[in-house]
Amino acid sequence: MFSYRKLLGTLFILVIWAATASAQKKTINQRVDSLLRLMTLEEKVGQLNQYSGKEVTGPVSERKTNQLNDIKNGLVGSMLNVKGAKDTREIQAVAMQSRLKIPLLFSLDVIHGYKTIFPIPLAEAASWDMDAIGQSAHIAAKEAAAVGQHWTFAPMVDVGRDPRWGRVMEGAGEDTYLGSMIAKARVKGFQGEKLGGTDAVMACAKHFAAYGAALAGRDYNAVDMSDNMLWETYLPPFKAAADAGVATFMNSFNTLNGIPATGNTYLQRDILKGKWGYKGFVVSDWGSIGEMVSWGYASNNTDAALKAITAGSDMDMESHAYITSLVQLVKNKKVDIKLIDDAVRRILYKKFELGLFEDPYRFSSETREKLVLNDPQHKLIARDVAQKSMVLLKNENHLLPLSKTIKTIALIGPLVKSKRDLEGSWIPQSDTTLVTSLYEGLKNKVNDSVNLICAEGTDVMGKLGGNFDDAVATARKADIVVMALGEAWDMSGESKSRADIRLPGRQEALFNAISATGKPVVVVLMAGRPMIFNQIAEKAQAILYAWWPGAEGGNAIANVLFGDYNPSGKLPATFPRAVGQIPLSYASYTTGRPIKSPKDIKYKSAYIDVPNTPQYAFGHGLSYTTFAYTDLKLGKKAVKRNEMVGVSFKLTNTGKYAGEEVVQLYLQDPVASLARPVKELKDFQKVSLNPGESKIIKFQITYDKLCFYNRKLQWVAEPGRFKIMIGSASDDIKLNAEFELQ
Ligand code: BGC
Repeated sequence: MFSYRKLLGTLFILVIWAATASAQKKTINQRVDSLLRLMTLEEKVGQLNQYSGKEVTGPVSERKTNQLNDIKNGLVGSMLNVKGAKDTREIQAVAMQSRLKIPLLFSLDVIHGYKTIFPIPLAEAASWDMDAIGQSAHIAAKEAAAVGQHWTFAPMVDVGRDPRWGRVMEGAGEDTYLGSMIAKARVKGFQGEKLGGTDAVMACAKHFAAYGAALAGRDYNAVDMSDNMLWETYLPPFKAAADAGVATFMNSFNTLNGIPATGNTYLQRDILKGKWGYKGFVVSDWGSIGEMVSWGYASNNTDAALKAITAGSDMDMESHAYITSLVQLVKNKKVDIKLIDDAVRRILYKKFELGLFEDPYRFSSETREKLVLNDPQHKLIARDVAQKSMVLLKNENHLLPLSKTIKTIALIGPLVKSKRDLEGSWIPQSDTTLVTSLYEGLKNKVNDSVNLICAEGTDVMGKLGGNFDDAVATARKADIVVMALGEAWDMSGESKSRADIRLPGRQEALFNAISATGKPVVVVLMAGRPMIFNQIAEKAQAILYAWWPGAEGGNAIANVLFGDYNPSGKLPATFPRAVGQIPLSYASYTTGRPIKSPKDIKYKSAYIDVPNTPQYAFGHGLSYTTFAYTDLKLGKKAVKRNEMVGVSFKLTNTGKYAGEEVVQLYLQDPVASLARPVKELKDFQKVSLNPGESKIIKFQITYDKLCFYNRKLQWVAEPGRFKIMIGSASDDIKLNAEFELQ
């Protein structure tokens, strides 16, 4: 029953809550201001300076420094790459000897786990499971916070549409909508409910912006793109991260239409801090301020410092440009002190929020470090996330799941017993004693009931020659073959762009030799990017894309292969057939000469040697069960601007296994003032169903989902027809409908 008393009570609590929150905020702002008044110009500039510890993650600066001295003199605001409760505590103690005792921020690239290594971010994106992704980020944060870190340089929210670019492994794939949802889940996971808990760290949305569109997939390269593309495709995940409260941003190495992102006022001042009203701070990327000199955008480091601070880069990571130039630039009236004060304020605010002024050592506890890093739960969650991330690409004649009564399985390929490769790149440290290989995972599963026989056949790069004969002989002795192929851990990631993204070395040749035995072959592929493996796609009976699955990879793969987990992953990125098709995305534009049939390509927008279609499309992923999509219902066929379109349909598990399906809703605006993509993902749900079970799935199409940036960069929906497509992949649309926006 409705009660005024209850309502008044709730309102009262809300008012008190808002007042307390604003008082707390005020207090921090006041504390920041008081501190700022005490600071010398040198100390202010010091807060904007970030040095790396001994383990470097970029080119080392030529300038010699005495870091501890600089810290003692209040000339350093943050350190990256210092690990462990003991080391961070010792270095913080040096900061406590400085005049104003301003604590340091410790930061690190905790990308997919600190000690417990989770699947790479691209893999996790394939789970389309926001809870799992958030949980993985949270455990990474918990472990990082326990070793003295306050800040991780994650999530990378760059849209990645070029699998040649090694850093696709670090992002959420090619899609803006999925990427935005994942950005939000990761930020919340890393940061927890509120900054300040010692089980969470500050997150960092990087790399602002458009880094994923580097020319020809070559890392650190130039980007030339229209404003429409920038706003519509590349910026939304950053906006989602900002809306989710991400504490920091990192700018990027690339130029955007000629201007380095680091010195880009349009990006950092106009968009981020202006239009979006972002209150956190922006750190440069490693050395990216200094690199403006190599770009030919700044004449020297001083000029680069001037351009970066003017454009809104608050903290200088390892360029040593701010610490060597800003004081003089202010004294010479080239840089307004207000810019420095604003940057310092933003950084100090975070230090207060983290509670470091109350206790600068609160994250550096050796007791907590031991406890958290040895939490047995973390491993189990890593296994769960890994199995959710795997994508079943092909499963001819239901070869999978395997029966536990098979007599002999041959395990063939260079990654069968590998451990390091399963961890993937971008991890704080490798500890292969914590990794379960594919071989061990299968052994754990079947004990001695199934005979597992192994042969490597070839190494990943095919440099050592290998022994195909032995591999073929091994295959012949088995009832079924499981091949483990892919990329070595250092073949994707930063500065690991590849011009040829086929399966490396002689692995596909090895597959052909094994396949020729006539034995049924399951191929497990592990990699940090979408690869090209056309022969395997054609001839293997089953293919599981396991990505770099992390430390629990072997157990997770075994669970999937034997059906203890029914695969539910869907590709977050398109898998091309040939490098020449790149960039290739499901959200491509229509053309004036689209092909209607693959046979009729004359005078059409097509290749004569390769079909236009990908090998595997965005959103593709099979299950051991099957799903039927029926009974589509549309709330209204014509709507006005402030109305929503309700869509519902029935999803039924028509197979024999319980399973999860990611149902995907795409829209198209077929006639508009700008040519629009053939489809765009606008919503999805991951639905779990028992055999025979049905559920009514509902989506609400809001006005916002119909909008795009018009020529004047206004976010508008234009009246007219809209197409709705609902399906289990971008190339497997099961239900179609249309409505009209009046
Ligand atoms: C990368 C960043 C990373 C930084 C610090 C740079 O080279 O681009 O993503 O956070 O190094 O390690």
